[in-house]
Amino acid sequence: MSTKSQLLALLSENTGKYISGQKAADMLNISRAAVNKAASALRKDGYAIYSRTGLGYSLREKADLLTEASISAGLCVPCRLHVFESVTSTNDLAKDLTPEDSAEIVIADSQTRGRGRLGRSFSSPSGTGLYMSVCIKPDFDLNKSLFVTMAAAVAVCRAIEKTAGKRPRIKWVNDLFLEGRKICGILTEAQTSFESGQIDKLIIGIGVNCFPGSFPEDVSEIAGPISDDPMAFSRSALATEIINELMTLLQSFTDRKFLTEYRRTCFILGKNIRICNIGDGRGILARAIDIDRDGGLVVEYMEGPHMREIKTITTGEVSVRPE
Ligand code: BTN
Repeated sequence: MSTKSQLLALLSENTGKYISGQKAADMLNISRAAVNKAASALRKDGYAIYSRTGLGYSLREKADLLTEASISAGLCVPCRLHVFESVTSTNDLAKDLTPEDSAEIVIADSQTRGRGRLGRSFSSPSGTGLYMSVCIKPDFDLNKSLFVTMAAAVAVCRAIEKTAGKRPRIKWVNDLFLEGRKICGILTEAQTSFESGQIDKLIIGIGVNCFPGSFPEDVSEIAGPISDDPMAFSRSALATEIINELMTLLQSFTDRKFLTEYRRTCFILGKNIRICNIGDGRGILARAIDIDRDGGLVVEYMEGPHMREIKTITTGEVSVRPE
């Protein structure tokens, strides 16, 4: 953990109180000059850290700022963080990074061109959401990419439960819902090498609606926040937990064990759904039966030319709507 993160953690635990420079130095096992330097760096990041002669340093309010220091404080997996105030799309920035032994992770407070599946845009206002892309160098085949999205959904559910105390449910394949509203979407993109035809990088883009914000009219009926109370949890704590859970799951996801948790959390199983192709608003009525061992959605068609037939959907080119 960096000195900045350590000092932030210490001051956050004592929000509103003064901690002397000497006490901070002793507790963190660093020099007073290092404490002073870290405090200045945190101020530059936007933290309201006050210093008074004879009293020391104080963090005035628990700020929900997304900074490298606040996110890295609780990380227990190796990765490199790139934290920004505003970007076009974290997935775009992640594409220019080169993950080797550890993941490269781009996190932003807002996006100007956030995008979702099937060419849709993803509303990404500042201060209320969390937008992140995890870029990894995969050591598995492209046909496991669906798994990666599913593992990410499970990881985000776990992280939300830990941080916000709420249990979201999954709509196959990449949406998280809470109390009937979409609170998170996941967009996994691959970059293949022209020469080898192998996947060079896999980019797992995760967008979470944390607190109330202004959603565009077309999604305001569907999207919602995790909590109405902007003090309910911190976005950086959520980012930390998502990274911890996701990187841990990715180490072993090919054993398929997470699929049991995915099935249990997926709320469309046993229900009637509509399977929609792009531009086809009404879709075809079907019953969601199961999720197979490759992550495909097993359905029985209830109408149309395939009525009563059982098929497995694996493509990302369709969307599934609860009936
Ligand atoms: C969807 O709901 O269709 C997927 C939405 C994915 C949004 C995230 S936000 C972080 C990353 N950057 C993007 O531009 N998109 C993903």
